[in-house]
Amino acid sequence: MRIPCAYANWKMHKTLPEALEFIYEFVPALFRDVKEGDVGVTIFPPAPYIWPIRQELGDDSPIFIGSQNIYTEKEGAFTGELSGNILRSAGASHILVGHSERRHKLDESNELVGRKLDRVIRDRLFPVLCVGELLRDREAGRTKEVVKEQLEAAWTGQEVTGGAIIAYEPVWAIGTGKNAEPRDAQEMCEYIRTWIAEYFTPETAASIRILYGGSVNPENISQYARLPDVDGALVGGASLDPGSFAAIAKAIAHSGGAR
Ligand code: PGA
Repeated sequence: MRIPCAYANWKMHKTLPEALEFIYEFVPALFRDVKEGDVGVTIFPPAPYIWPIRQELGDDSPIFIGSQNIYTEKEGAFTGELSGNILRSAGASHILVGHSERRHKLDESNELVGRKLDRVIRDRLFPVLCVGELLRDREAGRTKEVVKEQLEAAWTGQEVTGGAIIAYEPVWAIGTGKNAEPRDAQEMCEYIRTWIAEYFTPETAASIRILYGGSVNPENISQYARLPDVDGALVGGASLDPGSFAAIAKAIAHSGGAR
């Protein structure tokens, strides 16, 4: 059974007081007409806010907190880096791996993304593996080939469980206001699910959540949330406002529920 998800990637935005203010407004706005269990919400704030947000939410909150990044090693002399154990002890359960901004602005290779995914799985955290093509790949008809390469490079030998999440985010749609056509998002999410079925098992493919990301907003989310292979959204810009992210999470919750 796949509970749909609404994930907020705040990137390098907000001060700590602004982050706490968001939580204060978002939680009641979300639960006004959504029941716990109708949608899995995870917020990926800047790393120093993980612990204060966890405290603000309280231990029994159904909202998860994630990290936008992780380092490949378990522990050691790696100044400035964050391990899975550090992130978990601060309250993170989910980790973004291979976000396009890290691949394309910070030069993370497919191979490095694979090592980070391996770390997340070994550390028993939930990975959110991001994949997606550049505009030139799409224009050259290479979309599936690029995404397949990213999936194959990331999953080299690791076990995968239904707890893993994949976000299909076409790079040209991120932060541009040019969201993908719903039929293209469905085609790619279905392609990813079929790849999982062949590479792992049909059972894993049926249980893994696949999200669409790229210029999602409260106006366009319902077009994606009802697609059969899209289990929710990874949201950047529109997740910074509590009312807008609550509206997106509600639309996902009301899209037909678990699949
Ligand atoms: P966007 O970002 O919603 O602002 O396009 C999505 C993302 O980067 O995950």
